[in-house]
Amino acid sequence: MSERIVRVGLLGCGTVGAATIRLLHEHGDDIASRTGCRLQVTRVAVRDLDRVRDVPLDASAFTQDGVSIVDDPDVDIVCELLGGIEPARSLILRAFERGKAVVTANKELIANAGKDLFDASDATGMDLYFEAAVGGGVPLIRSLKESLAGERISRVTGIVNGTTNYILSQMTDHGWSFEDALAEAQRLGYAEADPTADVEGFDAAAKCAILASIAFNTRVVADDVFREGIAGVQPQAIADAARLGYVVKLLAIAELEDDEISARVHPAMIPTSHPLASVRDAFNAVFVEGEKVGQLMFYGRGAGGDPTATAVVGDLVSAARNRLAGTRGLGCTCVYERRVRPMDDTRGQYYLDLHVEDRPGVLAEVAEHFGRNGVSIERVWQEGFGDEANLVFITHRAQEGAFQKTVQALRELSAVRAVSSVVRVEGEE
Ligand SMILES: NC(=O)c1ccc[n+]([C@@H]2O[C@H](COP(=O)([O-])OP(=O)(O)OC[C@H]3O[C@@H](n4cnc5c(N)ncnc54)[C@H](OP(=O)(O)O)[C@@H]3O)[C@@H](O)[C@H]2O)c1
Repeated sequence: MSERIVRVGLLGCGTVGAATIRLLHEHGDDIASRTGCRLQVTRVAVRDLDRVRDVPLDASAFTQDGVSIVDDPDVDIVCELLGGIEPARSLILRAFERGKAVVTANKELIANAGKDLFDASDATGMDLYFEAAVGGGVPLIRSLKESLAGERISRVTGIVNGTTNYILSQMTDHGWSFEDALAEAQRLGYAEADPTADVEGFDAAAKCAILASIAFNTRVVADDVFREGIAGVQPQAIADAARLGYVVKLLAIAELEDDEISARVHPAMIPTSHPLASVRDAFNAVFVEGEKVGQLMFYGRGAGGDPTATAVVGDLVSAARNRLAGTRGLGCTCVYERRVRPMDDTRGQYYLDLHVEDRPGVLAEVAEHFGRNGVSIERVWQEGFGDEANLVFITHRAQEGAFQKTVQALRELSAVRAVSSVVRVEGEE
């Protein structure tokens, strides 16, 4: 195959940027012979020009001026690997105006400002690829958007944050508290010094918004996604889950029901027989359910420089081939305006652990509040006695709003000393 050179301007040379440069260097010949494109990184924007970088590129390629890269006539494709909203957003919009395709790994940007970017991409006819934004090295976006273009997807359930999956795996294996598991994750470099984006579910919510948008062809933004992190997950709930045949995972769930979308991120008990239950440590997996295809599962390393760089390079190859062919890949597919259902209107099953007074009649008092709100109980048992007495419930499927009303009423009941844990139960139907 004859090969043609396509020049790439990189914005950012951190974990993913540096791995992308190295991958293009190491696999450049293979990529050129397989695809007919030789991808050449010509310029790179960074913040700190003095930082030592382990990349096979001359120092003269580096600049602090991202605009000069976007404007450079010797750059054909802009690859945004800065992270954050600005200046990434403005630089991408400028690249489209300059007639350049863009590849990005920026989930935060796509989930919050995706509409502006896709509108500009459509208006200018320039490609916008973002495979690495969800699932790192796991090829999800292209699979959902292109390989499954003929399918009607009903649900996407994902473990899309490696840090929280690692923490929950440690809590499950060792009976550790959340705090101890987080400290271990930080010590090993799986969690950042400020772990908020991961443990509070912001990272997973951005990815959930992107998955829901693609799966259901409707623009879903990060703020549309219900979000609950893992800081409140108690070792007791994990132990109860194990006894009942469940495992606790932080799930990103996007569902289509009665033409309405539900998008949510929260810890959930899933049966140990569910394919996602065996996804351990920092791995990611996304389980897709469709009308004709049935069940699919995508599994792999959701973060890290090298895995993520493979997704970036795959996008660069697509953008480069389109450019050489004078064509464009599939643009924005958010062609519907489906309603995103408020969390209170969704239905689910719940585990509830109450610390209660240990005296006759308490169970009846508590059960009355379930009945009043139309939440029916599937199982109930008592653990401990005296000052250590807990009542634990698993409900049947109920409306979230009705269940939350029940919990609120129980918090105010004098017989209930504390609501120790609430965990949703998924994957039973
Ligand atoms: N890391 C992962 O495993 C992973 C996985 C999937 C997706 N992503 C996404 O990939 C993107 C990059 O992540 P990363 O982990 O590679 O980040 P990172 O290690 O923090 O690297 C960011 C790079 O951008 C440069 N930079 C930041 N602001 C800049 C500015 N205003 N002007 C010029 N350069 C600037 C930094 O320069 P200096 O080096 O001089 O500081 C650095 O080279 C993010 O959107 C992230 O969400 C990351």
